[in-house]
Amino acid sequence: MRIGRVTLSDRASAGVYADRSGPEIERVFAEHSGETVEWEVVLIPDERDLIEQALCRLCDELRCDLVVTTGGTGPSPRDVTPEATRAVIERELPGFGEVMRMRSFDRVPTAILSRATAGTRGRSLIVNLPGNPKAIGECLPLVMPAIFEALRHLRGE
Ligand code: MTE
Repeated sequence: MRIGRVTLSDRASAGVYADRSGPEIERVFAEHSGETVEWEVVLIPDERDLIEQALCRLCDELRCDLVVTTGGTGPSPRDVTPEATRAVIERELPGFGEVMRMRSFDRVPTAILSRATAGTRGRSLIVNLPGNPKAIGECLPLVMPAIFEALRHLRGE
């Protein structure tokens, strides 16, 4: 399968620090799935236009089965990932964000600051994750079964 991973970070994309979140998506995915994955890697600043363009390219041109974003889901003015995601998806799957917030909340009370969502564009599934590498390990495994089931539905199986 082909997966696009998109890191949204002004500072990581400017080289102020290394992107640890994108590689963490690959690590957690490999830990919880036996699938052979071809990764498409994107690292861009928190600019809504750039995010929308990247998501459309990964879904429409590169035909990714799944696109996982990390970062830009919080309440600060530069956090625009959910807005960019909603602008390009055809159908929203709000349960992805709901379960990440609900299941993380007891241990991490700030989990409800994430506005992460998910949805479908054509035959691609787009899922937002928070930017903190630790949050990726806490959230991605929760939604892996639903990701694989959604991909089967999108393939028409
Ligand atoms: N969810 C989990 N499971 N673990 C976390 O550490 N961090 C929260 C939240 N969700 C966190 C989490 C915090 S502090 C913020 S501000 C939001 O995710 C948004 O993060 P983002 O803007 O990097 O996407």
